[in-house]
Amino acid sequence: MSNPVVIKKQLQSFNKKIFVSGDKSISIRWILFASLANGNSKARNLLISEDVIAAIKTIRKLGIKVTLKNNLCKIYGKGIDGYKYKNNLTLNAENSGTLGRLILGFLINTPKPIKLIGDKSLSVRDFKRISDPLSKFGGVFKLKNKKNLPLTVYSPKNLKPISYFENKGSAQCKSAVIFAGMRTEGTTFIKAKKSRNHTELMCKYLKLPVTVKTKKNYDLIKVKKVKEIKPFDYIIPSDISSGAFFIILTLLSENSKLLIKSVNINSSRVGVILILKKMGAKISFKDKRIYKGEKIADIEIEGGKKLRAINCPTKFNSGAIDEFLIIFLVAAKAKGVSYFKDLAELNQKESPRLQWSAKILNLMGVKNIVNNNSIKIYGNPDLKIKKRIVIKNYSKDHRIFMACVVAGLSFGGEWHIHDKESIKTSFPNFLKLIKKLNT
Ligand code: S3P
Repeated sequence: MSNPVVIKKQLQSFNKKIFVSGDKSISIRWILFASLANGNSKARNLLISEDVIAAIKTIRKLGIKVTLKNNLCKIYGKGIDGYKYKNNLTLNAENSGTLGRLILGFLINTPKPIKLIGDKSLSVRDFKRISDPLSKFGGVFKLKNKKNLPLTVYSPKNLKPISYFENKGSAQCKSAVIFAGMRTEGTTFIKAKKSRNHTELMCKYLKLPVTVKTKKNYDLIKVKKVKEIKPFDYIIPSDISSGAFFIILTLLSENSKLLIKSVNINSSRVGVILILKKMGAKISFKDKRIYKGEKIADIEIEGGKKLRAINCPTKFNSGAIDEFLIIFLVAAKAKGVSYFKDLAELNQKESPRLQWSAKILNLMGVKNIVNNNSIKIYGNPDLKIKKRIVIKNYSKDHRIFMACVVAGLSFGGEWHIHDKESIKTSFPNFLKLIKKLNT
């Protein structure tokens, strides 16, 4: 185990312009779509992190050639039926829920059994939420404890389309079913609670037979069998979930200003911005543009504004699902009592994040009450930490590590945060960028 990162000093005010790395959800989706395209595709600014490398290794094991040089990734697709299914094939999704869950959709028609494994944290996460709908297509699944990895998938017979109600707001479940529908004759119908829609936007850009009707609280999606995916190049925009750590560092710092360049601001991802603005934050989108159906902008943040508590509307939950750990830090400094509810999905992540949020807030001396997937946070605009805080044994959840760095730099105290290698899954240059803020 490496030495803990020690934070003893609050960040000085700064005025900077930064780039954060490529969007993880889009990077993984581009790799999966390009792996089934009819020819060569290239991407620039792909996120180079362990989760994304695991996706590249996975498609290589399925017989697809990939090259990665500097910032350029090339995938040599062999068409929609181009995967090579070797005997006794084992694929390893490592720490990535997105990879492990989405790839199962594309593997639904495998003629030979495939084993899917993951690391310690992924192996205790719920895969029944994927195997349940995919079994209805005809896929045969065997899971450890009926719920977990390792699992095997096998498709002995013709697949049949399904009707599926995705009621958790999980883009991973929705996308796995879209992928399986793309492999199945007939029409698959999905009614899905709102969640990130990068899969649907990529389908639209690629002119695949996937249609979406948007209703107020859910989407109706129809999927037909896909005959061909044209190769496609992509410049991956920056990840708002990575940018969010820097947005919040800026907000919690007096007199600081930050510009984050070329960030994906897809409306299904900006829950964090909507919540923070309701809490009094000054954040604006500059130079808005559309790229292959995705919205992109530079994000400008001004720190040190007075922050107020929020009774957070649940409609923001899915668009901010990866950001709550740090939104709670803002609530800790806001005036008044904040209330966030219906957060069961937060405990389904790389670690049980709602429980961990409460633990971290307790260590910080911030009063909070967790009850039935909701949390009340008693804010203190003058919050200053004076004690030593040690963070370890958190299932190496990358977002917990980064949230604690933000807490230490914003509120003081002496923080010893273990397992810094956790950031390699999603944001390997996080600490380097942090250093850049004060140099
Ligand atoms: C993701 C969906 C979300 C999110 C994860 C990435 C995706 O998970 O938390 O980091 O790329 O589809 P759920 O679909 O489980 O909510």
